[in-house]
Amino acid sequence: MSKAIYPGSFDPVTKGHLDIIRRASKMFDSLTVSVLNNSEKSPLFSVDERVNMLRGICRDIPNVEIDSFSGLTADYAKKTGTDVIIRGLRAITDFEYELQMAQTNRKILKTLDTVFLTTSLEYAYLSSSIVREVASYGGDISEFVTEDVAKEVYKKLRGESNGK
Ligand code: PNS
Repeated sequence: MSKAIYPGSFDPVTKGHLDIIRRASKMFDSLTVSVLNNSEKSPLFSVDERVNMLRGICRDIPNVEIDSFSGLTADYAKKTGTDVIIRGLRAITDFEYELQMAQTNRKILKTLDTVFLTTSLEYAYLSSSIVREVASYGGDISEFVTEDVAKEVYKKLRGESNGK
């Protein structure tokens, strides 16, 4: 059975992420989207909130599971018996960092490969930080994230707790 992991921050998950998830899910028997628990960053959403939003957004894709992890992606891949990491590439500016990550991961675990999917053009500009920034000024984020996620973002920015 072919398995892949799609690691990331997903703070919050965008339509660009969803596009990558849908396309990658067609290439592998099973795809695990996994949220990094990164103690060095101060995310808008907790890991549990991000996992819940991803579960909601992926509920109609049968071979996609949502998980979270701490530490190195390569260690997580080894633990979950996966040899493929999925990453989206938006523009040339992503390339240097992504190449460095892919090569580092392969140095840590030599069986581990990274498959890059080029982001669909309509989402090439999009990032979670753009979503947070636009929303923080009260802007419309409906083009960037699903309706449910948009509600969670505005709720969080108003200082209300996540009801899920
Ligand atoms: O969504 P992001 O923030 O671009 O995802 C980055 C992520 C989580 C894939 C990357 O930071 C990562 O793999 N972090 C775990 C630590 C690690 O394995 N570092 C070594 C590779 S440089």
